[in-house]
Amino acid sequence: MTHPRPVSDWETDFDVLDPDYVADPFAIWDTLRRRCPMAHTDRRGSTWLPTRYQDVVDLAHDVEHFSSTQILVIPFDGQAPDEPVLEYGTPPISADPPLHTWTRRLLLPWFSHRRVEGYEAMTRALCAGLIEGFADRGGADAAGDYAQQIPVRVIAAILGVPSSLSETFTEWVRDALEFADDPERRRRGMDGLVQFFVAEVERRAADPGDDLLSELLHSEVDGAPVEKGVVLGVAALVLIAGVDTTWSAIGSSLWHLATHPDDRRRLVDHPEAIPVAVEELLRAYSPVTMARVVTEDLEFRGCPMRAGDKVLMNFPAANRDPEMFDDADTVVLDRALNRHVAFGSGIHRCAGSNLARMELRVALEEWLTRLPDFGLAEGGEVTWAGGQVRGPRSLPVVFP
Ligand code: HEM
Repeated sequence: MTHPRPVSDWETDFDVLDPDYVADPFAIWDTLRRRCPMAHTDRRGSTWLPTRYQDVVDLAHDVEHFSSTQILVIPFDGQAPDEPVLEYGTPPISADPPLHTWTRRLLLPWFSHRRVEGYEAMTRALCAGLIEGFADRGGADAAGDYAQQIPVRVIAAILGVPSSLSETFTEWVRDALEFADDPERRRRGMDGLVQFFVAEVERRAADPGDDLLSELLHSEVDGAPVEKGVVLGVAALVLIAGVDTTWSAIGSSLWHLATHPDDRRRLVDHPEAIPVAVEELLRAYSPVTMARVVTEDLEFRGCPMRAGDKVLMNFPAANRDPEMFDDADTVVLDRALNRHVAFGSGIHRCAGSNLARMELRVALEEWLTRLPDFGLAEGGEVTWAGGQVRGPRSLPVVFP
């Protein structure tokens, strides 16, 4: 991992991998929002950082000028290594219409309310089993031993791939997203993922099962079968999009409850309040930042943008904008008006949000029922990952 040069001016030279930003970006956003709501940097190419809710939403809706064909927050520094070929990228997230439109339509039914209800019992049993594994130890790493273990197994079941490979999947996704500043690791992660799915696609083409991969392979669009290259990209996306994101949201929520005993007790005493609290925790600790690429020279909010510039879709900062949310930097578990954009906005709005919400709710319900009394371990080090997805990677907690 490279160590970025320290930032002295957040308005003109920001760096989302700066350790201060990763650990605590909230005060930085507050200052930028007041003084320079569209910050800029030339680190890793010319890039803009919006911090206001309305600006982020407007950017997300203008798909003509802000394309999704470059969505990585951390591009390769300098020469890109030979990346494995994903001919169509990872649609729908990396595509503009029309590829976006029909690939999204293929995916949505798998994450409908009805389908997601069908995954709940499995998720609950998984959470309960994980907690049983460490409950009598008096302490655990709530990120590594718990949060990290949940989404990858649920996604593996949906994709119809063995959950015994969960650790490997997790490594690949972390290499691709979390350690994206390290070209070797990113290549290793993407290579692993792509090669695995190439083999799986061939296997399902010959021997279909009752899973997302098989169904995609045997779907038709406008009378023609979906190309294998598209299926490959969609499958890789489902794994990448469904793992780090949700695990980070579960981890941040547990961090909040470990550090805010009043909120923890409230949810223990009133578990029926958890679904509304989940929305507030998603707002306050939104894990996902995306990127767009500017398609032609233009001006946005007075900023001269050039074709090829990147814009970071700062959904996490939008969700802390006091123009939109009263007392935005405070977690109000029963916040009534909460139009947060943790799942994005516009045509790319998260296709897996029903699943993510269910996993987050069930993970909290099971934890709070079984380990109602917990807090941070004294002397234990909490570490955070940042960049594209922000969340705790080590979260030592104790419970009596
Ligand atoms: C708390 C967890 C999650 C968060 C915060 C989250 C956030 C997001 C965001 C912000 C976007 C918009 C991307 C953009 O505008 O470029 C997105 C898109 C997407 N997410 Fe999620 N996500 C989560 C979980 C999941 C899960 C569990 C899945 C299921 C596999 C998933 C699948 C997708 C897909 C397929 C897209 C692309 C949709 C499109 O481009 O039309 N996400 N997500």
